[in-house]
Amino acid sequence: MNKSIKRYFAAVAIFGFFAAGAFVLSTRAAAGQAAPQEQTSTGAELFAQNCARCHGETGHGGKGPDLTSQKRKEKWKDSDEKIVNKITNGGFIMPSFKKKLDADQINSIAEYVRTLKP
Ligand code: HEC
Repeated sequence: MNKSIKRYFAAVAIFGFFAAGAFVLSTRAAAGQAAPQEQTSTGAELFAQNCARCHGETGHGGKGPDLTSQKRKEKWKDSDEKIVNKITNGGFIMPSFKKKLDADQINSIAEYVRTLKP
């Protein structure tokens, strides 16, 4: 192999190295930018934003019923399903959240509701 061919390969290798690096950095940057949107709010935050105006900051009720009572805890003890359905579909007065919140968000609110202290 003569010198100029060697130099050519070296140049290609160096260019390739930087191109790959730039690619990795750009995808990292893109991922970094996407992160805040993907970051899920906690059940507590979502409850404060969506539910507290009717059920109270602590879930003890207001316009909507107290979500902390023993009777309700009993009803919900086996699964989140009833709470998830209620949030998804709403009730007589309670609005439906299926357009506003995704399934993950609804699940995390349901989990949070179960932890509310009487
Ligand atoms: C506009 C006021 C309002 C908002 C906002 C609201 N609720 Fe309700 N919620 C009610 C009312 C009123 C009822 C009872 C009657 C009915 O179903 O409409 C109720 C009932 C419920 C029940 C059923 C209680 C039972 O007896 O089993 C659950 C669980 C519940 N709400 C959770 C939530 C959660 C979680 C959110 C937030 C995602 C939320 N609610 C937002 C007013 C509201």
